[in-house]
Amino acid sequence: MSTETDETPQPGGAGRLYGILGLVMAVLLIGAGGVIWLSGGSPPGVTVGGPFALTNGDGKTVTDQDFRGKYMLIYFGYSFCPDVCPTTLSAVADAMDKLGAKADRLQPLFITVDPKRDSPAVVKQFAAAFGPRVQGLTGSAAQIATVAREYRVYYAEHRTGPGPDDYTMDHSSVLYLMGPNGRFIAPIRADMTADQMAAALAKLIS
Ligand code: NI
Repeated sequence: MSTETDETPQPGGAGRLYGILGLVMAVLLIGAGGVIWLSGGSPPGVTVGGPFALTNGDGKTVTDQDFRGKYMLIYFGYSFCPDVCPTTLSAVADAMDKLGAKADRLQPLFITVDPKRDSPAVVKQFAAAFGPRVQGLTGSAAQIATVAREYRVYYAEHRTGPGPDDYTMDHSSVLYLMGPNGRFIAPIRADMTADQMAAALAKLIS
């Protein structure tokens, strides 16, 4: 089982939260793999997001620049995830259907934190299970480490047995809405229903 937490603020406070300029989050590891997202003042120099070079399901290199002009909705997870990742991506896919024309301005991206098992073919198949809009991305261990660091994503292998594939991935679970200029706009709770997610996104996407 994977440990996933998403202690971002409650949806009820979303309107207020999203209005706060320069929202900055820090990740604190507590206990065994627990993660808490803190929102608060923005220490200078702390950013969320940044340039990345990854590989798509067709084995082609894609970078953050390829998505300029579109909003990105980025989720970090892994295809072998037993529960939270598929549930979240289902909600994203359903939210896209509910967004109407605004969905055309938004590109959902699934970035794996398990590049060892999540080859381009695997992420392609996994993402396709959530409809044609979600794009799956993988990369080298170093590329994934870089993008995860930029997005303040926590992930770690959790051994479940002696075999090479006997592990799950602990990972933080939050969606990142990035603007057409690539800048961070707001976190979106990964445990929202599709309706809640669509409503939150509709407010933030122009
Ligand atoms: Ni997961």
